Amino acid sequence: MSLVIAVANQKGGSGKTTIALNLAGAYCDDDPSLRVLVIDADSQNSSMRATSAGSEPYPFTVVNLAAAGSNLGREIKRMAETYDLIVVDCPPSVHDRNTEVAIAASDFVLVPMDASALDAWSTVGMLQLVRRKVGSDATACGVVFNKVNTKTTGYGEVRAAMEEDNPYPILRSTIAQREIYKTAIGVGATVFTVKGQRTAKVAKQEILAVAKEILTIKGLMEA
Ligand SMILES: Nc1ncnc2c1ncn2[C@@H]1O[C@H](COP(=O)(O)OP(=O)(O)OP(=O)(O)O)[C@@H](O)[C@H]1O
Ligand SMILES: [Mg+2]
Repeated sequence: MSLVIAVANQKGGSGKTTIALNLAGAYCDDDPSLRVLVIDADSQNSSMRATSAGSEPYPFTVVNLAAAGSNLGREIKRMAETYDLIVVDCPPSVHDRNTEVAIAASDFVLVPMDASALDAWSTVGMLQLVRRKVGSDATACGVVFNKVNTKTTGYGEVRAAMEEDNPYPILRSTIAQREIYKTAIGVGATVFTVKGQRTAKVAKQEILAVAKEILTIKGLMEA
């Protein structure tokens, strides 16, 4: 298997880095034989910095290709020959060349968003970029709600609005607002490896559900 997932949205703070690292953690946890790589394509270098936040190494490799420039696409393709699964943490802009190149070099673009009108407006712009780069193939991209409380009517309304006039699926799996995501990254871990945190269990389940839903959309796993 070789799958490249770009985590991208122009909205800053939508959870790209948090989701990229935890998604990589989910695939490693589910199948420890998988060779998993996170590519940091954002000049803020957040994913890269997270690797030095703790004493234990991640069960996946993290490389910084934020400055690869026009070579980024070629590098992603080259690394896909070595790794089974690559997650690209993109910068928060549709005008950043790295975002465009990462989208074009990926098999799937995961677009995290908050359930707010502001995030919805940004996400529409992001989805337009994906459409220009890879067309409207429904298996090329998906939106995931992050930091969400699915019991609110606001969430239902924003979700319904996103489903309109959008060729890509809105993932059934959602990610809630949980302190454990902040805690885990702060200690150089993911929710799969963070020690002594009972609340990690439910976070693991929801991230694994996102990871599996992506594989299902790509036809790599049965629903
Ligand atoms: N599900 C969540 N629950 C709680 N906190 C979260 C969650 N997802 C992200 N966060 C927090 O929100 C903030 C932004 O997250 P993150 O840095 O992952 O977003 P980003 O999209 O990568 O940001 P940037 O656009 O700056 O690259 C961080 O403080 C992170 O800990
Ligand atoms: Mg980030």
